[in-house]
This record gives sequence, structure tokens and C-alpha cells, in this order.
Amino acid sequence: MAVNAERLAADIARIARCTRSPGAGASRPTFSPAWREACDHVVAEAIAAGCRSSTDAAGNIHLRPAALDPAAPVWLAGSHLDSVPHGGDFDGVVGVVAALECLRAAHDEGRTIPLETIIFAEEEGTTFGLGMLGSRGWVGTLDAAALAGLRNADMENYWEAGARHGAMATRLVAERLDPARYLGFLEAHIEQGPGLWAAEEPLALVTGIAGRRQYAVTLTGVANHAGSTSMQDRRDALAGAAEAISAVESIAGQVGPRVVATVGRLTVQPCAVNVIPAVVTFTIDLRAPSDAEVSRADGLIRAAVMAAAARRRLEAEIEETERLPAVALDAALAERVREAAARQGIAALPETVSGALHDAAILAPFVPTVMLFVASRDGISHNPREFSRTADIAAATRLLAETIRGTPAETH
Ligand code: HGY
Ligand code: MN
Ligand code: MN
Repeated sequence: MAVNAERLAADIARIARCTRSPGAGASRPTFSPAWREACDHVVAEAIAAGCRSSTDAAGNIHLRPAALDPAAPVWLAGSHLDSVPHGGDFDGVVGVVAALECLRAAHDEGRTIPLETIIFAEEEGTTFGLGMLGSRGWVGTLDAAALAGLRNADMENYWEAGARHGAMATRLVAERLDPARYLGFLEAHIEQGPGLWAAEEPLALVTGIAGRRQYAVTLTGVANHAGSTSMQDRRDALAGAAEAISAVESIAGQVGPRVVATVGRLTVQPCAVNVIPAVVTFTIDLRAPSDAEVSRADGLIRAAVMAAAARRRLEAEIEETERLPAVALDAALAERVREAAARQGIAALPETVSGALHDAAILAPFVPTVMLFVASRDGISHNPREFSRTADIAAATRLLAETIRGTPAETH
């Protein structure tokens, strides 16, 4: 199949213009006009390649060749177009355009391949505060009520914001994923780590995805005068948070080489130069390749936060906001990818476990799932400097197409 690299580059450049922060990276919250514009580009391209577009009740967009028998099981491939604030132009986008290009290249050759492309809604979690909402709503691990409890910066809940994009709570159960309709799910994605770039490798097969726990921590002390309160009389919530956050950073390194923990958001009240902070909230994002490492780090982090609070007579509340297990991806489908790579002359396709979370982690318990990684320049991601080579994206697209080739329902 003749993958068109120029078309891929043009897609990425076009989608990069769909941002709330022109000149400052990709800012494309789910259900925002920027997100809609990006989705509309992909939908228009797919329709021009003979596809039909539909949106499921969770807000995910499905693009499927009109010539395919609706009852025939097909491959699923895709990713997400929502981004973190001021993110990069490749995160999620690569997986969507690679799947789109498979459909276009087949259409160019007058063929219909058994492939449905999907654009998952709200993968990042930075719009509604929890990640992979579209995929979890579709597979049923998040119900309509849970989605109704999440709000965006405009204080709209998932259904209010998604209504104008086809999301609908009342249809969520009826339109749940039917695993029998899919042969498997393949997600191409940038590595978002330095390994492939440093090894001068374009691609890798992903055989597993790290487990993740996220927390919201609240430390409560007493606001007081910065000038007339002695150090021993203070109950300083920010000083307590500083000690706890430093402990979170060092615990990750103690538990294992691929255990990572991040405090990405923090608020201070009353946030005044001459007032001892009374209340501090901060998030923790903890990940590890195994559930055992996540659990061990969880215990150590909880103890460290409580100890830092106790030393300052602070109240401490640790709310676990997300718990996702480490996921082993499908061994048989991984072998199919290796065989496809061998047919393409890729003798030793590198293999890795993803530290980043993806919709593939949500689909994996329901349909055979694997991922393909594309090298990220210097491993930078969630940053406007994010970059991947068009040639590597095209190679991933060709491998995706070759993995799908030779399945039933393929018409010439
Ligand atoms: O956070 C993640 O791992 C992904 O980028 N949503
Ligand atoms: Mn992503
Ligand atoms: Mn991301």
C-alpha cells in the first residue's frame, strides 16, 4: 500500500493550526472549537476517501469505509486529538492520521480495507480532570453519572459540553463497545520518551502500558500574620506541601528505575505575600510498569504526606482520583505485528513498555490491543517542542497497514 508521507505531514500541519494558543503549542481541549476544527479536518478527509462518519454516545468519532459490510468485524485504529495545554503537535495526532492514511491509501488503490478509524474524546484528562473519558465511556468502565460529575473550565459537565458534538448520556449503554465487532485495536503514538530517538530507531512495538494512580491532596493549616507569628507557632500548609512534594519526588526513584511521580498542579490559599498559607491542594500522578511497584510507592507516598502534615499540625486529606492497573498488551497481535515488520524488512523491531497512558490501556481488556511507538525528538512531549519525523510516522503507517492486510472483508 502506497502511504503518502506528504499527506501525513499536511494533516499534522493542518491540525497544528487548530489551537487556542497559536504560536504557543497545541491547546485543544475536548469539545472546544479548536478540537472540533481538528476533528472536522480528519472527518472530511475520511469522507473524501469513501468513509462514513458517526459519533458514539461517549463522543468518540468513528470513520468506516461505506463499502464495508456493517456486520463484518474490522480492525480499529486511532488515538486522540485533544491536547494538554500548550502541548505538542504529535501527541495523539500521529495515531489518528496514521489510521486515516491507511483508509486513504486503500481508497487511492480502489480497495476497501476492514479498518475503522477512531478519534477518542478527552484522552488527556486536562479538560475535565480525568483521562480517557471517551474510551472509558465507550467500553463501560465509566458510567453516565460519573461523566456527569466532571466539569470543564466553563463549569459545563461532560454531557453539557459534549451535547453539541453528539455525546448523549441516554444512549451510552445502548452504544457500548461490542468486542465481537472488532478484530483488534492498534494505536500508533509518539514515544514521549527518549529511548527510540537516542537509539536512532524509528519505531517500536509496545507490549505493555504502565499502571497509574492519581491523587488530590489537601493540607489545611492556619492563616496567620507573616511578621508576628514565630516559626514554632506556625501551621504552614505550603511548607508542609513543599516537604511532601520533595518526598514524592525522592520516593519514585527509591521504588524502581521506571517508577515516576509528578506534582503538576498546586493551589495556595489565601496566596498573599504576608499571610502564612492556610490551605494547599496539589495533585500527584504516580506510574510504574507493575502494579506491585505502584502499590509500594503508594504506601510510601501516603506515609510521607501524613508525616509532613503531622510535623506542622496540619490536617491532611489524600483523595485517590484515579486507579488504572498496568496492562499487558495482546501477545498474539504483537506477534502479528512482528511478522508484518519482518515482511517489511524490519528484522528486529524494538519493543518497549509505555510509561504514558493511552486509550489502548482502556480497550485492551476488551479487544486484542497493541501499540506502535514513533520516535520523539529528545523524548520531549507535552511541550510545543514535541517533534517526530514524517518518515518515521510514514513507517508506522506502513506497518499498521501491513498488520491489517490479509484479513477477511478486504475487497479489491
Ligand atoms: O498522561 C498521559 O500519560 C497521557 O499523555 N494522557
Ligand atoms: Mn497521547
Ligand atoms: Mn498526552
